Amino acid sequence: MRIIERVTEMQQQAESWRREGRRIALVPTMGYLHEGHLTLMREARNHGDEIVVSIFVNPTQFGPGEDYERYPRDMPRDELLAREVGVTVVFAPSAREMYPDRYQTFVEVMEVTQPLCGRSRPVHFRGVTTVVAKLFNIVKPHAAVFGEKDFQQLTVIRRMVEDLNMDVQIIGHPIVREEDGLAMSSRNAYLTGNQREVALSLSRALGEAEKMVHGGERRGAIILDAVRSQLSSGGELRIDYAELCDPDTLESVTEIRGPTLLALAAFVGHTRLIDNRVLPG
Ligand code: PAF
Repeated sequence: MRIIERVTEMQQQAESWRREGRRIALVPTMGYLHEGHLTLMREARNHGDEIVVSIFVNPTQFGPGEDYERYPRDMPRDELLAREVGVTVVFAPSAREMYPDRYQTFVEVMEVTQPLCGRSRPVHFRGVTTVVAKLFNIVKPHAAVFGEKDFQQLTVIRRMVEDLNMDVQIIGHPIVREEDGLAMSSRNAYLTGNQREVALSLSRALGEAEKMVHGGERRGAIILDAVRSQLSSGGELRIDYAELCDPDTLESVTEIRGPTLLALAAFVGHTRLIDNRVLPG
């Protein structure tokens, strides 16, 4: 496994693979790898001969006062894990390499970035689409794999790829959970023992909503009431949003008529967690 830090070196490597007819699959990450990321890497093996994992804590997707500085980082451990999964190249540029002096170009998706996380993180998706577009230009992947935990991010990236005619296949992979149901996230590392217990109310609320739909409940307001009271039962938790949306457009829905995304975001202490489930129609 090679570690590449320079953009030009990564581009040359990608070009030479493409000339040899090798398929490239990319897994973009911000590092501090966990089983969820490793599952994406294993999935990537089904879509490419050469697997590239990018590890880059992208400053442009963090707003002022968010956790860019304290975002967990552990490069030696990440390298070890990537090697074990059979990754070919870890692309780990510095912030200066990705955003040199006088950098001034951004990619912005207009509509699906507005609801849900877009409301409380107004610059977030502009940073995500910009860095992902850059990674596509640098790594030149045939396919890229993203987790469905960041459901809105996946929707935004699919929109960008379609709108800008990017020649990359986008693969979404289901959420990977801890045994007790907590969705895996690098930010889980911030949680104290008690906060981790409280955090479980997100996956419990999703389970409860799914049960209600299976039981025939179709009214969004009733389902969201139950979700909010489940979330509030845990103590140290502040709901950012709990919403039902169309899984393609992310427009809000009031009645379950087909597959519907239930998307949650909540602060447990200072840690912002997200989770979601597509409820059956
Ligand atoms: O999902 C993430 O870890 C990040 O948003 C991504 C896609 C790597 C872009 O920085």
